[in-house]
Amino acid sequence: MNILAIESSCDETSVSIIKDGTKEISTVILSQMNTHANYGGVVPEIASRMHVENITLVIDEALKKANMKMDDIDAFAVTYGPGLIGSLLVGLMAAKTLAFIYNKPLIPVHHIAGHIYANNLVKRLEFPLIALVVSGGHTELIYMKEDYSFEKLGGTLDDAVGEAYDKVARVINVPYPGGPLVDKLALEGEDTYDLPLPLNDSSYNFSFSGLKSAVINLAHNERQRGNTIIKENMACSFQNRVVEILVKKTMRALKDYKVKNLIVAGGVAANKGLRKGLTEACLEEKINLIIPEMKYCTDNAAMIGAAAYYAYKRGDKAGLDLNAKAVTELK
Ligand code: KG4
Ligand code: ZN
Repeated sequence: MNILAIESSCDETSVSIIKDGTKEISTVILSQMNTHANYGGVVPEIASRMHVENITLVIDEALKKANMKMDDIDAFAVTYGPGLIGSLLVGLMAAKTLAFIYNKPLIPVHHIAGHIYANNLVKRLEFPLIALVVSGGHTELIYMKEDYSFEKLGGTLDDAVGEAYDKVARVINVPYPGGPLVDKLALEGEDTYDLPLPLNDSSYNFSFSGLKSAVINLAHNERQRGNTIIKENMACSFQNRVVEILVKKTMRALKDYKVKNLIVAGGVAANKGLRKGLTEACLEEKINLIIPEMKYCTDNAAMIGAAAYYAYKRGDKAGLDLNAKAVTELK
């Protein structure tokens, strides 16, 4: 089954053709990052306009790269949410139009299911598993008993981890997108700043806004005293707290649910500190850890095409009345 998938939930226009949920035939990603960098963050209105300009070009390019025609496509898949509403609508309209014209099924995919199934393109998922989803909009621990079954164990009560990275980056004068740069600085610094371990409790929930505020306050106080902040050390201290709590709660979930498979998904899965922390903990606990290659960590349509195959098998199929959802739980 060849699925043509479309992802446009934020600032990447991406189209991919995936065979049977596991084989990537072609993927095209058009990033708007350079445009948004001028504004220090994604501007929703600009993002949706750019998706409109690019979507048909990206669809054509994905087919060309695959050496396929529309007749070779068996179904169309699209991210319906969560994300920026204007951005989502562009991908959704394109997918609906294609499904209508070619009279093929339309498969709705939750963005986070996509991030999880990015791993399926690297290695077939083994169940039961725990997924740690860490991105600009999400920080969630999810238990999966089998394909396309999602039970949320916990999530962030305020900022997502990627969001906290981007905000901390701004405080220490690191340009957008801050996450990867803070990660890089952290590896060059030392853990010298006294920052709290956030929401260190017995739940599976997370909270990063307190930690972010602690960084802001510390930076402010240092500046008032006429001291300069050592960026590398602040990044390192922040990253160490984030990694410690993520690793701690994830390892506890694995133990409590007696699960031996862990997958990490979302943009922050690219974080070197997190990769190292989880790799070490999983080695010790004999947990089978899968973290996708960098290219599958950030937003792409390949992950949507992979998830769509299992969504379709579960019976997920949308009509032409499918609507975009800015906020929606993974079910
Ligand atoms: O999954 P993604 O591409 O988009 C969302 O669905 O949110 O994740 C983007 C987020 C941004 O907040 C970015 O700063 C963060 O992931 N990020 C990182 C790293 N690479 C990307 N955060 C920390 N360390 C990184 N290496
Ligand atoms: Zn994402």
